[in-house]
Amino acid sequence: MDDSPMKSTSRRAFLKGGVAAGAAAAAAGQAQAEGDPLILEKQEWAQGLGDGVDATPYGLPIRFEKDVVRRNVEWLTADTISSINFTPIHALDGTITPQGCAFERHHSGAIELRKQDYRLMINGLVDTPLVFTYEDLERFPRENHVYFCECAANTGMEWAGAQLNGAQFTHGMIHNMEYTGVPLRALLNEAGISAETEGKWIYVEGADASSNGRSIPLEKALDDVLVAFKANGEALRKEHGYPVRLVVPGWEGNLWVKWLRRVEVTDAPIESREETSKYTDTLEDGTSRKWTWVMDAKSIVTSPSPQAPIMHGKGPLVITGLAWSGHGAITRVDVSKDGGKTWETARLAKPGEKMALTRFYLDTDWNGEEMLLQSRAIDETGYVQPTKDQLREVRGENSIYHNNCIQTWWIKPNGEAENVEVS
Ligand code: MTE
Ligand code: CO
Repeated sequence: MDDSPMKSTSRRAFLKGGVAAGAAAAAAGQAQAEGDPLILEKQEWAQGLGDGVDATPYGLPIRFEKDVVRRNVEWLTADTISSINFTPIHALDGTITPQGCAFERHHSGAIELRKQDYRLMINGLVDTPLVFTYEDLERFPRENHVYFCECAANTGMEWAGAQLNGAQFTHGMIHNMEYTGVPLRALLNEAGISAETEGKWIYVEGADASSNGRSIPLEKALDDVLVAFKANGEALRKEHGYPVRLVVPGWEGNLWVKWLRRVEVTDAPIESREETSKYTDTLEDGTSRKWTWVMDAKSIVTSPSPQAPIMHGKGPLVITGLAWSGHGAITRVDVSKDGGKTWETARLAKPGEKMALTRFYLDTDWNGEEMLLQSRAIDETGYVQPTKDQLREVRGENSIYHNNCIQTWWIKPNGEAENVEVS
């Protein structure tokens, strides 16, 4: 991307003056019914037959939507094996992420594993070590839950300054799907775990070369962790861990082990690579905080935003975005048009659901003047999403992971938007 932190610092100074006072709102853009051939005349597509029903056995988006795809950031992705791409959140609405555009993060590439070759071992501190086939898993009682999965590195490039110009790139390491699976609790009970669960852990591993091994307290494993095999009603896509992945509600994406092959019950954490040199938060004094599992409340305005500018001029404007919290349900989202000086409460499309994305809307009137657009999420614990400065006070600027600060888009009079910081 072309934005360097240096550039954003000068932008920050420039923007300190704030947004100019607003003029009166102008008329809404209206479709011109009179003389519009698209409504008055019979069109080409109404004069012949469309495609037959068998033209596309598995449906794909219409070609006009071909830009709504995962994208990567070239300088961030050195190769396609240890790679990341981003969900086009600026172009989606509602809350469910279609699998085909849900971000991917692999440490050693996406593997192809047939259901027939799939095995899941439960071992360690259990009465009877067990190995399950895919068909075995299908015989346990199933549950359905919608949860978000956010990579701990989401927004990680923004610590030092406004960097990437688009909600897809600043906040797109997130997806939100309806999972079908078996509670891990049921499988652990099948193997037999002692009543004394305190101080115990599980170590979970994937079947890929990286294995992405992580330790999770047994208490969480027995609470709401799912061994999932369907997402949004259909089989997991290869890139999301086909045929089976772990779903760890509200906790950082790295724990959501794909191609899940082993769950070991232990009496101590393993302290693997992924939980020591990675996914820890280096603080101002150089020490590192570990076990930042829960993703704190966060939100983002998805439109208008740099990839979704205002195209219609002044008048009615729908400001929309997403909010989520690993601690439970979102209860309120506020939107500011002046860089956080004043706030309006947004409308939640549906009451917030635990550890799932919530869609918010602010139906407003735009006077055509510049805005410093922000959103801030509040969750059921009363936690309020912090500003960048508040977060830096606690965390310094050495961190990569767990950046949940308030984002600012500078909306210009021509409707274009840019990633900026205000202080
Ligand atoms: N599991 C395995 N086996 N291998 C991996 O590389 N990446 C992790 C996690 N599980 C990974 C894994 C990371 S860092 C994240 S953020 C999520 O998977 C991403 O899940 P997704 O690719 O379905 O979006
Ligand atoms: Co990740």
